[in-house]
Amino acid sequence: PAAADQTGKIVAWYDRHHRDLPWRISPPMAARGIRPDPYKVWLSEVMLQQTTVQAVKSYFTLFTAKWPTVTGLAEAETEEVMKAWAGLGYYARARNLKKCAEAVAYSHGGRFPDTEEGLKALPGIGDYTAAAIAAIAFDRPAAVLDGNVERVISRLNAVDAPLPGSKPLMRALVARMTPTARPGDFAQAMMDLGATICTPKRPACALCPVNESCAALASDDPERFPVKAGK
Ligand code: ADE
Repeated sequence: PAAADQTGKIVAWYDRHHRDLPWRISPPMAARGIRPDPYKVWLSEVMLQQTTVQAVKSYFTLFTAKWPTVTGLAEAETEEVMKAWAGLGYYARARNLKKCAEAVAYSHGGRFPDTEEGLKALPGIGDYTAAAIAAIAFDRPAAVLDGNVERVISRLNAVDAPLPGSKPLMRALVARMTPTARPGDFAQAMMDLGATICTPKRPACALCPVNESCAALASDDPERFPVKAGK
């Protein structure tokens, strides 16, 4: 079917064009069975909420050097964590970060839960973050939907219903595309596609691995998607 065909093309594109980011395991390493550390996946995903990839890189490197494990972060002084966070903004995130580290360290034996439901029960972990950690760290076929993925999905399917009401539909469309093999790479492939090709303005459709089956491109106006309420 069309969705599976698109998935294969997007993952193959990721193998060639993925961004090398400090929290990622490269596809060749992943193919040898190397899994990313759930602590680092969680830390990167929390930092990436409302902050750009470029800004997060150096903070991620600093945090993981200072606190290499979730237990280390749990045992740190809150004051010191807040100081290290300074500049990333949205300080409630840093407070939740500390609370979540304490919950994992002291109530879960230092290991992150490996299901979406278990992850969602932790402080500061919502639908998106739980799905992202489950897919990237634990290889679970969770439907990962962030702003980049919404743009890609809404364009591939020419979703006319406006956001935020169209979210359940978009989640279903992502779920239909999510493979059981390499779901974490698929999720990150969709993020990279949205960040580098399927951009809000002037998307680089000529370079897109799924341009032949994109309903928005066929309609000649990909920038019209995602449709937003009140516009
Ligand atoms: N934005 C949120 N999570 C991300 C990830 N794992 N890689 C790239 N961009 C992201």
